[in-house]
Amino acid sequence: MPFAGKGANVVDGVKDLVVKDSKDAKKKDSKPQPTENERLRAAMAGVMERKLFTIPSFKIYGGVAGFFDFGPPGCAVKQNITQLWRQHFILEENMLEVECPAVTPEPVLKASGHVDRFTDFMVTDVVTHDCHRADHLLKAALEAVQADKEQTPEKKEEVEGLLRRIDELDAQQLGAALTAYEVKAPETKNDISPPFNFNLMFRTSIGPKGDLTGFLRPETAQGIFVNFKDLLYYNGGKLPFAAAQIGQSYRNEISPRAGLLRVREFTQAEIEHFVDPDDKSHPKFSSVEDLEPLLYSKALQKDTSKQPEAMSLKEAVKQKIIANETLAYFIGRTYLFLVQVGINPKRLRFRQHLENEMAHYAEDCWDAEIDSTYGWVECVGLADRSAFDLRAHSEASKQPLQAYVAYDKPRDVEKLVAKINKQAIGKSFKKDGKPLLEALEGMKEELKGDKGPLACARDSLSREGRCKISAGGRDFEVTTEMLEIREELQKESGKRFTPSVIEPSFGIGRILYCMFEHTYATRDGSEEKTLFKFKPAVAPLKAAVFPLVQSKELDEVARRISTKLLRAGLANTVDTTGTTIGKRYARTDELGIPFAITVDRDTLDAGDKQGTVTVRERDSTSQVRVPEDDMAELLRRLCFEDMAWKDATSKYKAQDAPSE
Ligand code: ATP
Ligand code: GLY
Repeated sequence: MPFAGKGANVVDGVKDLVVKDSKDAKKKDSKPQPTENERLRAAMAGVMERKLFTIPSFKIYGGVAGFFDFGPPGCAVKQNITQLWRQHFILEENMLEVECPAVTPEPVLKASGHVDRFTDFMVTDVVTHDCHRADHLLKAALEAVQADKEQTPEKKEEVEGLLRRIDELDAQQLGAALTAYEVKAPETKNDISPPFNFNLMFRTSIGPKGDLTGFLRPETAQGIFVNFKDLLYYNGGKLPFAAAQIGQSYRNEISPRAGLLRVREFTQAEIEHFVDPDDKSHPKFSSVEDLEPLLYSKALQKDTSKQPEAMSLKEAVKQKIIANETLAYFIGRTYLFLVQVGINPKRLRFRQHLENEMAHYAEDCWDAEIDSTYGWVECVGLADRSAFDLRAHSEASKQPLQAYVAYDKPRDVEKLVAKINKQAIGKSFKKDGKPLLEALEGMKEELKGDKGPLACARDSLSREGRCKISAGGRDFEVTTEMLEIREELQKESGKRFTPSVIEPSFGIGRILYCMFEHTYATRDGSEEKTLFKFKPAVAPLKAAVFPLVQSKELDEVARRISTKLLRAGLANTVDTTGTTIGKRYARTDELGIPFAITVDRDTLDAGDKQGTVTVRERDSTSQVRVPEDDMAELLRRLCFEDMAWKDATSKYKAQDAPSE
């Protein structure tokens, strides 16, 4: 949620993760033993890199922090998750999909607020010049004081107060706090510089002359906003509707650590659901209202003795804990999606933003946070952003970005109406006043209660007798003589308004990483035997096909089965190496392949097993014997139609592990 001003009032959603790292680093000084979380993380990272799920980018040149490549199984898992997202949201919700360029011209990101406010406070190590996030260092220091049993209650209270306000501190206040708590650079313990603002966008220039500044987009959302007018037209002018985009986003994070969780290029999947601000009900809310996700509301967070509570979405809307049905609907759909891809629901919570985390225009925001070895990590941001984005782009582009809804019968509507005194404007500004007149014509009326430009101008006129209007690249000082803003009651047969937007914003890489952690396991307590218990739909390959021993005839059957599976859309691999079956199972386990199909002598020999193969399920390691001709259909149902393995074991004959 960028343009709220990252330094000012947007909380760091992965604060636990970064703070914990710093704490871990401290622990390392006194206690060389890695923590349980570090041990688990390192073991899993070892498997991920060895099996090429992920590879540090540009590795042979030493790598660059914050960039990762996905290797073959990593690409497949990521693609599967993205496909499921597309199915779950874009297709099942009839969303309008767009694909926009990552390179974005400056005016777009100026209007959205990113050029001025997409910043974090940075400090540098005065000796090594390494960069650090100032708020992360302060948080780590404050939490160390909090955890110190020897500190007085007064000190702890002071620290708690500061921690609560940390996201509101300006550069000077942050600098003062860093000095007061004697914060040093984490690894070197050198002094640090005073904090300064650092914009997280990658700047570039467009075209050979380089006279058009551009940035790599920090979020995919802006591409949707700038296409709003055409999308509304495509949708027959009707609201509500949602548009979505899946694509790469870029943020020049100050000190990216924590692997895939904080990177400089990542895949976002974002939805902008445009809705009438006076009606945020959702026609499909009843389909999710009985879900009971863990909700960590503002009230619960403010009471340190309270924990997140499971609550039905229906109740949460009724009690006004979640602001409206549409936001709650997306919380429900997000919950279903995350569980579907393999996130453990007990390690998933929805945390509401506190007042100081939300931008002034936002009505309500929730983060889907997933528990990981780094702490609770924000993986999805769900925000009711009111009409801020469309208004900002409308003002900057001078294009009306509004919708019209017809009433059943005409209604009386209270409006603010601008009465422009052209003569007074002409007298003051002469010919230069033309852009001002055009701008005022463009904002002639707005609904009373809409916090639009007329409401702002009226506040300023009544407070100071003048207001500032930006037009034609300059600011005009407009007086009460030039502009009067009246309230009028008008009969209307419909209303024209700037829609509100409800934005669920998914970070695919963070979800993927947490899913890896939630499915990582060892077999028989042996660290040598690791597996990923991926949901079959997410697994990189759905099956491995083995001839039990090296043999031309068995190979032939294995390849035939593999081809049939491929034709049924089931990615698989054939392993004809002839290594022991145990080793081959271990290889499939490490890749999280859910099913292993073995072709043995019985498949060929005349007898009751002729034409059948064995299928082993990864998690239970139990096996059944299945006719070759049933294979593709059975696997398709097991992978994509939620057929449980136990149904397969009751349908087909159990089989002992094949002997070699
Ligand atoms: P954080 O506070 O952790 O930097 P944010 O609040 O800035 O995150 P948003 O701007 O709300 O994040 O971005 C929407 C989603 O994009 C996040 O929920 C997250 O999943 C993903 N995301 C944001 N920044 C990164 C990053 N540097 N690396 C990977 N994913 C990211
Ligand atoms: N569009 C939401 C975000 O990236 O913050």
